[in-house]
Amino acid sequence: MYEKTILVTGGAGFIGSHYLNRAVVRYPQYRFVNLDLLTYAADLAHLTIADAPNYVFVHADITDRDAMARLFKEHAPTHVLHFAAESHVDNSIEHPQAFIETNIVGTQVLLDLARTHQVQRFHQVSTDEVYGSLTAGAAPVTEDAPLLPNSPYSASKAAGDLLVRAYHATYGLDTIITRASNNYGPYQHTEKLIPRFITALRAGKKVPLYGEGTNVRDWIYVGDHADGIDAAFHKGRAGEIYNLGGGHELRNIDITRMLIALAGAGEDAIEYVADRPGHDFRYAIDSRKAERELGWKPAVDFTSGMKETWDYYVPTS
Ligand SMILES: NC(=O)c1ccc[n+]([C@@H]2O[C@H](COP(=O)([O-])OP(=O)(O)OC[C@H]3O[C@@H](n4cnc5c(N)ncnc54)[C@H](O)[C@@H]3O)[C@@H](O)[C@H]2O)c1
Repeated sequence: MYEKTILVTGGAGFIGSHYLNRAVVRYPQYRFVNLDLLTYAADLAHLTIADAPNYVFVHADITDRDAMARLFKEHAPTHVLHFAAESHVDNSIEHPQAFIETNIVGTQVLLDLARTHQVQRFHQVSTDEVYGSLTAGAAPVTEDAPLLPNSPYSASKAAGDLLVRAYHATYGLDTIITRASNNYGPYQHTEKLIPRFITALRAGKKVPLYGEGTNVRDWIYVGDHADGIDAAFHKGRAGEIYNLGGGHELRNIDITRMLIALAGAGEDAIEYVADRPGHDFRYAIDSRKAERELGWKPAVDFTSGMKETWDYYVPTS
């Protein structure tokens, strides 16, 4: 009765929940199966569509082959949209093993089942961090740039992307990879820079800034990313990769100063701390392929997206 059954992994996480809140309403003709292990990063309360008739939640681990085989048998997904991951770079430096298990082994488990169950499309949600670090004047990277990951997190995501590529080339699985820049917006875990700084500043505390704060990131509003994923999922060409950038490069110190201004605090709210080991200097991606082929580009202006984000996070005690 449904046109498609989409297995969405990691749909209780930051980006997955934004995607599902939009897609479940936008596509009543699709059935969405949200598969999530509910790690520390997940929060089912962020899902506003939990009672929708075309949505179901399954609590399971993508690395558990038997559980995944049962799930594919029971729900018979026609498409896989793969968000689930260990996603925090600092955690990957402390404890790389979980990143290898979930981001590489888990991806391979899903790819195998997608292949044997003749899934019509497997969409891997990936990151610009797989391209590694850019120098200050270098042009933003396109999809054919070499993969030069530097952290255990980005290496595990790059390995997942390469498996996706291999399953397309070897088995003819219809695949899509999207690589987005740093996301911001409501529902992000407070371990990440923007929510961590907002909650600290709103509680009148100092914020810990790595190194001199000169590292550059490109920022994308999470809703724009969700829309880019949706466009690639529907319009992307099989086997292709699409960069989804926010087109908004900022140094960490600039973001910090913007948040300090919103808090009405001073420069003394910044506490400079030892830099992250192997800290990539700059990420910047060229999204013109997505604009050209998918008709997608980010729509939310950084100042208003950031104000919404600021208003969302309540202070820590
Ligand atoms: N956050 C960003 O800025 C960003 C940027 C580009 C790409 N990405 C990618 O987007 C995806 C989602 O990122 P996010 O920020 O929403 O992450 P997140 O950490 O907020 O959410 C990850 C979700 O995956 C689930 N999960 C983790 N391990 C699992 C397992 N073994 N089995 C089933 N579920 C599991 C967690 O419970 C959580 O709900 C990731 O693949 C990430 O690499 C993130």
